[in-house]
Amino acid sequence: MTNLRRIITIDGPAGSGKSTTARLVAVQLGWQMIDTGAMYRAIGLAMLRDGIDPSDERAVCARIGAHALDLRPGSPPAVLLDGEDVSGAIRTNAAARASSEVAVHRCVRDKLVAAQRRIGSERPCVIEGRDTGTVVFPDAGLRIYLDAPVEQRAQRRLRDLGDNPGVTLAEMIAQVRERDRRDRTRAIGPLVKAPGAVVIDTGGLTVERQVARVLELARERFGGDR
Ligand code: DC
Repeated sequence: MTNLRRIITIDGPAGSGKSTTARLVAVQLGWQMIDTGAMYRAIGLAMLRDGIDPSDERAVCARIGAHALDLRPGSPPAVLLDGEDVSGAIRTNAAARASSEVAVHRCVRDKLVAAQRRIGSERPCVIEGRDTGTVVFPDAGLRIYLDAPVEQRAQRRLRDLGDNPGVTLAEMIAQVRERDRRDRTRAIGPLVKAPGAVVIDTGGLTVERQVARVLELARERFGGDR
């Protein structure tokens, strides 16, 4: 078992439970967690703050070099944009939409994939996103694909936004569908199930069951080598 790379990738669509699962699994294993969506959100936020249209590839790529992005280890890790902790600021609906728009540009994906590989190579990690098992770490020892029905994922997203989400459930379902479409159809790093990834449908599962299932798979794959 010693040659298995001690990396667990968790991919899946918005609201499928990736962040929660990855965070809790990482805590249990004592590994670092990498939330790649948070990094795309930080770039989306940076562009909104700069007054740049996130869908304008030329403008985004001309500006992206001006920003430094890093993760400060923690559970969950803090996202640092030019040294500022933006972990709270990236959780708005506007930042979510902007992140999905900047994520189609090659300059953004190249910069973030390189950063993710650097951070993930420092020590064992649980990394979650859309392309972590296909592009970032295709050689990970365990690759997971989470999914759930769109209505349930939209409900989770509404809950994440707190007491005043500012959108109805029907609007959120439409937004999640649009993000799914953009994530699945982009030319670079689209959301697809990695060959060999284990699919877990979180629709009928509690968080505890999701986490227990991933830990069970980790035990099978990595054994005492964890
Ligand atoms: O998981 P999330 O909602 O925080 O992700 C925000 C956006 O970032 C999502 O709409 C698509 C993009 N993303 C991506 O393109 N690739 C990843 N590995 C992670 C996120």
